[in-house]
Amino acid sequence: MPLIAEPLHDLFAARVTGLDMTRPLTEDEVAQIVGFMDRYAVCVYPNDVPLSNEQHIAFARHIGPMQHGHVLTVTGRKDRLAAWPELVDVGNIDSEGNIQAPDSRARQFNNGNRLWHTDMSFHPNRATYSALNAHRVPPAQGDTEFADERAAYDALPEAMKRRIEGLVASHSIWYSRVLSGFPEPTPEEIASRPPALHKIAQVHPTSGRKTLYLASHASHIEGMPVEEGRALLKELTDFATQHQFVYRHRWSKGDVVIWDNRCLMHRATPFEDFKYPRDMRRTTCREHAVVEPFMH
Ligand SMILES: [Fe+2]
Repeated sequence: MPLIAEPLHDLFAARVTGLDMTRPLTEDEVAQIVGFMDRYAVCVYPNDVPLSNEQHIAFARHIGPMQHGHVLTVTGRKDRLAAWPELVDVGNIDSEGNIQAPDSRARQFNNGNRLWHTDMSFHPNRATYSALNAHRVPPAQGDTEFADERAAYDALPEAMKRRIEGLVASHSIWYSRVLSGFPEPTPEEIASRPPALHKIAQVHPTSGRKTLYLASHASHIEGMPVEEGRALLKELTDFATQHQFVYRHRWSKGDVVIWDNRCLMHRATPFEDFKYPRDMRRTTCREHAVVEPFMH
């Protein structure tokens, strides 16, 4: 049965219906899902109930090589979802089932998600699709915003397109964490994930469209004075996250939202996170097969 995509924004983002995510997909369904991703870059799949962890993981396996285990260490973090190493926990619930304490390092780490970012740009093997399933949502707020970097690139002045062509940014998870108030990273944390280099103007590989590739993880531009590079990255990020390039998703329990990190930035928005639990679980697909050793 054909899936139906209804646009949610003038430029990108769609709501897709007609897919049963709880069972194995056909080749044709996978082709439609990927085709919609190339067109819309963020797709919302409503579900009456959240997927089981196993269903979520089985779904994501259809759309690319998967992340398996942590790609970095957060000192002292206890993993609530340790039995499912393909899942990343981006909620505010601790391993005992309580709302994370104010001084929880895991909470402070996840606060960095409130900056505009791209999942895993701090890794040489980039994230392609992230699929986030809402298990518990607060009664208000806690939306996620997405910014279309292909549309933003298209709208850049030609002089800026020429200026940025070939420029390479250095992306470090620890840079964005410190920016967002995370305590000084421990030596163990720093050693667990060194920076990665990526061009800031790229061709999106599967749609062939030109795109920016930005993130708050980007600390500087190679070969450019640090402050000059930061100013350019800020100018581009401010440009790319203007209202006309942004879709804001209001979550409903059960939603699976899939986005393409190669051409979008996203950010979490605030909610009463000491009052309400928010349980969000993410699978992440990667550009290339994962060969690094499993990290707990
Ligand atoms: Fe993210």
